[in-house]
Amino acid sequence: MRILITAGPTREHLDPVRFLSNRSTGKMGFSVARAAAEAGHSVTLIAGPVALPTPPDVTRVDVVSACDMLAALQRLLPAHDALVMTAAVADWRPKICHSAKLKKRGMAPVLELEPNPDILQTLKPEKGGRLFVGFAAETGDPLAEASRKLAAKGLDLMVANDVSQPDAGFAVDTNRVTFITPDAPPRPLPLLSKAEVGREIVRWLETQSERKAKG
Ligand code: C5P
Repeated sequence: MRILITAGPTREHLDPVRFLSNRSTGKMGFSVARAAAEAGHSVTLIAGPVALPTPPDVTRVDVVSACDMLAALQRLLPAHDALVMTAAVADWRPKICHSAKLKKRGMAPVLELEPNPDILQTLKPEKGGRLFVGFAAETGDPLAEASRKLAAKGLDLMVANDVSQPDAGFAVDTNRVTFITPDAPPRPLPLLSKAEVGREIVRWLETQSERKAKG
């Protein structure tokens, strides 16, 4: 399979040195990319700003903002069979990005924001026969919200995790996720390393694509 994966945060600049972002480190998405390449798939990884080395045999494209990520995906999606959207895309961006560093004395105390496009929703019309996988990082009970997003974003698989737990979610090496699909009960996985979660996602893609091929 040709698998396209996004990872890490996006940065939404208000000037060349200041930005809005989030705690994503890219570990989960890079683990999916590594697992997919190790399983022999052709892998393209679109990465937001992270401090991680590129896994072997993975083609990497670096981006900064949500709009950059969307543009890279629109360019690369046609040549891929599956998309795994692991990136923690910033929901909002400053309305104005200044080309020169703002002076402290010239800054207003209120920052005006505008919403970023929802990348998965934007790509929905281009989905065709491709498999789309999303991630839902929630606090509290992740299942209800994740199921709603699975339907709204038209996904084949939503990987839900509760980011309020210290051993799951951002910046740690382990994750506790539940696979949510449109046609089966939720499948909770035990506490696993992110490498193992990556392998589970790749196995799910392989099974699903074999099922599709058989019709
Ligand atoms: O709606 P929420 O951000 O919780 O959804 C998470 C999923 O949607 C992730 O797969 C994320 O990569 C994707 N997403 C997106 N575009 C956004 C925000 C999130 O595609 N603007």
